[in-house]
Amino acid sequence: MRKKENNHGIFSAGQKTLWRALRPSIWTLKSDPSHENPALSILRTLHDQPRWLEPYHLYDERGSQLFEQICELPEYYLTRTEDSILTEKAAEIIAAAPVECIVELGAGTSKKTMHLLREQVRLRKGGTFAPIDVSLRSLLASRDTVKRRFRQLTFHGLCSRYEEGISSVDTSLPTLFVFLGSTVGNFNRSEFTRFFLHLSRSMGPKDFLLLGTDRVKEVEILEKAYNDSQGVTADFILNVFVSINRLTKGNFDLKKMRYHSWYNPEWQQIEMYAISTATQEIHFPSYKTFFVWEKDDRILVEISRKFEPLRLQRQLQLFGLNPVGHFTDANEWFSLLLFRKSVS
Ligand code: AVI
Repeated sequence: MRKKENNHGIFSAGQKTLWRALRPSIWTLKSDPSHENPALSILRTLHDQPRWLEPYHLYDERGSQLFEQICELPEYYLTRTEDSILTEKAAEIIAAAPVECIVELGAGTSKKTMHLLREQVRLRKGGTFAPIDVSLRSLLASRDTVKRRFRQLTFHGLCSRYEEGISSVDTSLPTLFVFLGSTVGNFNRSEFTRFFLHLSRSMGPKDFLLLGTDRVKEVEILEKAYNDSQGVTADFILNVFVSINRLTKGNFDLKKMRYHSWYNPEWQQIEMYAISTATQEIHFPSYKTFFVWEKDDRILVEISRKFEPLRLQRQLQLFGLNPVGHFTDANEWFSLLLFRKSVS
């Protein structure tokens, strides 16, 4: 009989029984605590003023594929720049964070994180790698790469939203939390606060955070990164309405909308909108509601905040995260910030 795999060593004592094996080395929650109906959450923000959407709706199957294409675009410097910093600085980062476990939030296939794992194995000969992601496909790919390249590492994939994964990991194990890609920039102000309060409270006294952040820079460079010449970003943003029609049985017509983005200097963020090109009634018969989307009115689909590293470091200090390292590229376009949980 095959020995049953156990999840000891990644989950804290009280959390172990909440998870079940989904695939070898991949865990999922036995019951999903988020009872939120996605269709309702979409309708609520669409009825708000200004109308807006939560960014996670962008990542259906096609949205995820389009985002992968965005990462390869010549104008979208973020992925390439962060990868170059990690290629060069992974050894220094790992040396500065003496941990046994690396937990990656919203990990995808963990391609960039492999630089850190390589150095962890070189310096500490082993440890645990626990990526958290809602995509099982990405976790399977990551597991296969890690098992092939780093046999010294124990792999535990957590197939969940990162909020749930963060609350469950064993905080007695010195851990480096990794949150790359400047995904933190897609949080609005209240999500930002909620996220860092939750993360910091879940971190143990020997834990670190490595945060990838895109920086404030020349407007032209920023705006081109979100308005590429091939129109992939426009497809990515407008695709959310295909997914919304599917979830809510709504009647958004992609032929009656266009994409617009700009850099808002006061809020230091790229704002990505869908603009209606004709007045239209959007109906959701299953929810007995509708709204009139007037010509030229916009729906804010996504924001991408840009940061000033020093200011962000000062701000995160107020969440109990002390800055202990700053790694950047030659142009100073992107920063990887290392924090240590402060002992209060
Ligand atoms: C995932 N996230 C960090 C991307 C960004 O740059 O804000 C999402 C994106 N949206 C359009 N292009 C890229």
